[in-house]
Amino acid sequence: PEGYRLDIAPGGVKVASADDAGAFYAMKTLKQLGTKAAPCGTVTDSPAFRWRGFMLDEGRHFFGKETVKGLLDQMADHKLNVFHWHLTEDQGWRIDIPRFPELVKYGSVRPESPMHGCRGTKGDFRGNGQPYGPYFYTPDDIREILAYAKERFITVVPEIEVPGHIRALLAAHPEFACKEGLPRVPCMFNGVQDEVLCAGNDDAIRFMEQVYDEVCALFPGAYIHIGGDECPKKRWKECPKCQARIKALGLKDEDELQAWVTRHFTDYLAKKGRRTIGWDEILAGNPGTETIVHNWRKPKYGIEAAEKGHDVVVSGLGMTYFSVPQGVADDPFTYLSPKMRCSLAKAYSFDPCAGMTDAAKKHVLGAECCMWSECVWNEYDLSFKLWPRAFAF
Ligand code: ACM
Ligand code: ZN
Repeated sequence: PEGYRLDIAPGGVKVASADDAGAFYAMKTLKQLGTKAAPCGTVTDSPAFRWRGFMLDEGRHFFGKETVKGLLDQMADHKLNVFHWHLTEDQGWRIDIPRFPELVKYGSVRPESPMHGCRGTKGDFRGNGQPYGPYFYTPDDIREILAYAKERFITVVPEIEVPGHIRALLAAHPEFACKEGLPRVPCMFNGVQDEVLCAGNDDAIRFMEQVYDEVCALFPGAYIHIGGDECPKKRWKECPKCQARIKALGLKDEDELQAWVTRHFTDYLAKKGRRTIGWDEILAGNPGTETIVHNWRKPKYGIEAAEKGHDVVVSGLGMTYFSVPQGVADDPFTYLSPKMRCSLAKAYSFDPCAGMTDAAKKHVLGAECCMWSECVWNEYDLSFKLWPRAFAF
């Protein structure tokens, strides 16, 4: 799949391909070789990995349709084929689900925007007095993006996070938190939040099922990303409903409760013909191996997942997180973690299978570079951080 051969001779150019995507990539290679003249020769090419992803976080900062289309063009030019669209966060809910209008009514607008250049963490938040939002995509916007991606042989994988990173949803539906009295606004600060979905509340679980129903109706792709990262267990430990669920199911602890959540939505989405993918924290409670694991912390978690029999998509904080500084002089932009580094050389040397046995390597679907947007204010800021590391990736 996606392979092609390009024969360039004085008399003309011939393309042979395994499928339409291959022919599309042959044209991209021809474009890279030169628009007016190309050197004679043969290129035989096919991807080492079927998942060649780019993730955009639109929860923290929203970029909008035109920027997204530009990014899809750039992805296609570099033969990336999975657009992982991070649409829900503590700081913003960016997908309008008309059946549940409160989600964008409350979840897509923060009372204040972070001042340009502030890191926006609890100790370093300065607001500029202007509301941030409402910013979200309508179903028509999403259909337009999906059509644009399809023309470029890009699959769109929406990420709807559960059970953590969900403060914007809880702004709309505070009844689904463990604790009463949450504010009706998304989180203003960057950082991991204690407030998560109440896993002991059947109504909360049913609500998420209905959200996924609507997401599946809109997105035709095979995969749904269910998040699962950075879910503190503090509220679950205190919550009578969550504790009752643990007891009723005979679970060992709160990690196993998260594994139950993962398994529940994996099964639910499997019945709708979809595969779930979740960040590597989900490994802690031993969820079913049907769930694809998205490695982002240390490589050892990707290796562990593959050895346990999960298919794996590999990212890495210091290798493919292009929201981390690359370490160039006079970098004018702001970073959430200014001391961390992900150099161009690191991005180029990245091997998603590093340290894996041959058996584990078979489970590697591919790799993904990520743009988290806590400190990405606009398209210029985004472009500076993404390129040239994404070329190297
Ligand atoms: C992540 O960076 N929290 C997946
Ligand atoms: Zn609870």
